[in-house]
Amino acid sequence: NKPKILVARSVFPETIARLEAHFEVESNQDDQSWSKAQLIQKLQGKQGAFTTGSERIDAEVLAACPELKICANMAVGYNNFDVDAMTARGVLATNAPDVLTETTADFGFALLMATARRITESEHFLRAGKWQKWSYDMFAGSDIHGATLGIIGMGRIGQGIARRGAHGFGMKVIYHNRSRLDAQLEAECKASYATKEELLKTADHVVLVVPYSAASHHTIGAAELALMKPTATLVNIARGGIVDDAALAAALRDKRIAAAGLDVFEGEPNVHPALLGVPNVVLTPHIASATIPTRRAMAELAADNLVGFLVDGKPVTPLNPAVLGGK
Ligand code: GLV
Ligand code: GLV
Repeated sequence: NKPKILVARSVFPETIARLEAHFEVESNQDDQSWSKAQLIQKLQGKQGAFTTGSERIDAEVLAACPELKICANMAVGYNNFDVDAMTARGVLATNAPDVLTETTADFGFALLMATARRITESEHFLRAGKWQKWSYDMFAGSDIHGATLGIIGMGRIGQGIARRGAHGFGMKVIYHNRSRLDAQLEAECKASYATKEELLKTADHVVLVVPYSAASHHTIGAAELALMKPTATLVNIARGGIVDDAALAAALRDKRIAAAGLDVFEGEPNVHPALLGVPNVVLTPHIASATIPTRRAMAELAADNLVGFLVDGKPVTPLNPAVLGGK
């Protein structure tokens, strides 16, 4: 008797095939959007769930699904999980770290460059047939090389961005994090610690890579934007809600900062209408980890966690290992 699992979103057919070798799988390969009630209904009788960042697993879902033992997220972020409620119910939470670090750092850098050098804004201009002649200040942006890069959230992805900036572009890297890196990591990343206020005041480019939590909600709001240089750019590849999007849209409109690059949004897939109305922002639909090899590796890791836990009792990347003792 194979354990039953739910794959809550469409994934690689190979992932489904692999899971079917171990489990009785109900999947959502036509990628229906389920309400919470539908998710709860689909989870009935399932011991495991393969989730993405889009499925909210909270106390209400857990109470309604007493057979559930593990939710494996195909994402490094896991703010869609109420981990405390999962731990209280003895449900294991796993995420998909590490395999996306370099790919996501690449994208953070791509978004920074597109933002500072006004790539998408100028492309829109060209496509709209507005390019009549060269002019001295047309789409003049700001430099990346030699500039000061401020990274808020110095986890693995933040370190990857620091390395790219310091080693590839000769940037001066400063960072802010809950805890300081050890001296060796700071040296490898050529990064020095700064308070959040110092960082915001001195960085030419600010990149946000901090996980979302109640404590990091609106890490950047009107007060923080007011500290930044008027020539500065802001990049958010972390999570919607880290930035107050309404305050950012106002700052961009009023040119209180030069530009922003956003891959994540409050309330996504909805985007604050004021952001859609300003030209000096590059907008992408939460694709920082989206390369085929990396998305495959993330799906594999989520599957490894389901197989590891439900078949062998050994998950690979548990978030609340406390529940393992009791099961
Ligand atoms: C994507 O946002 C992730 O958390 O993996
Ligand atoms: C977060 O987990 C990161 O890798 O930065």
